[in-house]
Amino acid sequence: MSDIFEKAKKTLTDLAAESPLDSEAIEAFRIRYLGTKGLIKSLMEEMRQVPNEQKREYGQLMNSLKQQAEEKYQALKAELEAKADNAAAASLDLTAPGDPMPLGSRHPLAVTLNRIVDIFTRMGFSVADGPEIEDDWHNFTAMNTPEDHPARDMQDTFYVVDAPGILLRTHTSPVQARVMQQRKPPIRIIAPGRVYRNETISTRSHAQFHQVEGLYIDEGVSFADLKQTLLYFAQEMFGTPKIRLRPSFFPFTEPSAEMDIWLGTDSEKNYRLTKGSGWLEILGCGMVDPDVLEICGIDSKKYSGFAFGMGIERQALRLYEIGDIRLLFENDVRFLRQFTSAL
Ligand code: PHE
Repeated sequence: MSDIFEKAKKTLTDLAAESPLDSEAIEAFRIRYLGTKGLIKSLMEEMRQVPNEQKREYGQLMNSLKQQAEEKYQALKAELEAKADNAAAASLDLTAPGDPMPLGSRHPLAVTLNRIVDIFTRMGFSVADGPEIEDDWHNFTAMNTPEDHPARDMQDTFYVVDAPGILLRTHTSPVQARVMQQRKPPIRIIAPGRVYRNETISTRSHAQFHQVEGLYIDEGVSFADLKQTLLYFAQEMFGTPKIRLRPSFFPFTEPSAEMDIWLGTDSEKNYRLTKGSGWLEILGCGMVDPDVLEICGIDSKKYSGFAFGMGIERQALRLYEIGDIRLLFENDVRFLRQFTSAL
């Protein structure tokens, strides 16, 4: 029996004398002592031959053997890692240039919107917001759009299934209603955001696009104010010398107009863009219909105002002379990288 004890004790002294240095030697150490076919495992299997009265002592010996092998293995590994860290630190050059972090660029739609916001902010407008998932009342009823109006047709509007009266807003005009309900005049806001229309997806139209709404309500606001505000905007935005207002119709403004900017026909590009007329349509606008003021809780005898709404995509195409609207939505970095702006 004593040779088994001898063998175990020898293993213990051998273990203490081991000094593997590199990771391969350390792994060999682990396999030799702690492996499934290792020394400790085979000594454990000898347990059967140990007489009962010595089993306890042998067991303790096995335990300390196992513990010491495990501890030594962990210590050797830690030492090796520390050595590797020190070597890395020694070769670290703190004066070397850093890894460059590629900076993205703003999306052309964002740049365009920021320019629009900047121009109106300078005129005293502030930015307002409303939900993209709207209710029928704000999107249509408050905007003086009767039940049987074609704009309410399923063809144009995405309705939320299982939620009667809930839809994806078809324009930013519902923000007008929300602001009028919440604030007292004078009101001077613009409201940019996404809008949705269920149009057939063709090369030209999208189910989702962006608009900016404008609303100005105070005592004595006139059509002249509308005209001057929009002229200033067009000059700042496009550098155009003049605008043209053509009579139009919107249920929520009276009178209503479409605004064109003058590009001229000097270049072939402008000739084509304006179909030979020199004028490019930019937005819809008008004096807020008194009925809309009343529906939204504003005294139409005391106050008047104007509103306008424009698509941002159209302005971006014009501003950057982008030929195809689809480029704005493809997220091709080779295209997007071309737009840099401070705004
Ligand atoms: N909401 C209209 C549209 O989507 C634009 C508009 C806004 C017209 C405000 C007049 C006043 O076409």
